[in-house]
Amino acid sequence: MYKITPEEYNVFTRYILEISGITLDQGKEYLVETRLGPILDDMSCTTFSELYYKCRSDKTGAVEKRIIDAIATNETYFFRDIAPFELLQHKIIPDLIDKRKALAPPDTPIKIRIWSAAAATGQEVYSITILLKELYLHPDKYNITLIGTDISGQAIARASYGRYNKFEISRGLSAARIKQYFDPDGDGWKIKDELRVMASFQKINLLKPLIGFEKFDIILCRNVAIYFTQKERQRLYNKIADVLVPDGYLLIGSTESLTNETPLFAPHKYLKSIFYQPKQ
Ligand SMILES: C[S@@+](CC[C@H](N)C(=O)[O-])C[C@H]1O[C@@H](n2cnc3c(N)ncnc32)[C@H](O)[C@@H]1O
Repeated sequence: MYKITPEEYNVFTRYILEISGITLDQGKEYLVETRLGPILDDMSCTTFSELYYKCRSDKTGAVEKRIIDAIATNETYFFRDIAPFELLQHKIIPDLIDKRKALAPPDTPIKIRIWSAAAATGQEVYSITILLKELYLHPDKYNITLIGTDISGQAIARASYGRYNKFEISRGLSAARIKQYFDPDGDGWKIKDELRVMASFQKINLLKPLIGFEKFDIILCRNVAIYFTQKERQRLYNKIADVLVPDGYLLIGSTESLTNETPLFAPHKYLKSIFYQPKQ
């Protein structure tokens, strides 16, 4: 394994912060060594300094992309922490439907836009497609847009394809749900087309301006801001406030909180869960 020197570690952590917003504290040298080691091999570098110079001189952005894919922690699973999905199913989506129905002209489909802002390999998004299926929302009556985005092109490609190995599929899904919503695919499982078409995926860096987004009714931004500095987290939540409708809903990770992060959202408690809405 290649060893990273303290100087190289400082240079690399600054570079990773610059390109992805991910903060690596002291003590994560091992993570950088193991995750970037294969890139050193592929690029015939023998030191991290050499790799750094190659990143800086690569005008195609391909090396930067590989570094982001390697460093981004894509850990996720279906129905992660369960409570936010119960909240969506029993409170947020029914409340939204009631509010939108009250305003919509008769016979117009109710429009709901949902964004999973750090979708990783797609489990969060497909958990929502399962939940929507189980709410039996008739497609003639509801026009639901579900978008998953992530900085990692590799993760987004996997999410789009919707194939999971035995380990991934077993995390958070019952045997009945696997059978109902996935097709066997070699030694893994692939999301059924009827659910796959309910979502679309895009590569987006949350640190860059969020341009061209129509506003969303529900945003999930879970387990990603923990990797950012406080300043970046504040900027991110300001941007999220800009793309969320005034009566919309924001869900963050179970270990995250917006207290001390932004004055723009108010917390609301429902059963065991917290959700946030823009302050009026
Ligand atoms: C730990 S996963 C969380 C996945 C999912 N939201 C969940 O809670 O299970 C964090 C994801 O954030 C993505 N990420 C990290 N930095 C990002 C950035 N600057 N912009 C967009 N996504 C980012 C990573 O690629 C990774 O897939």
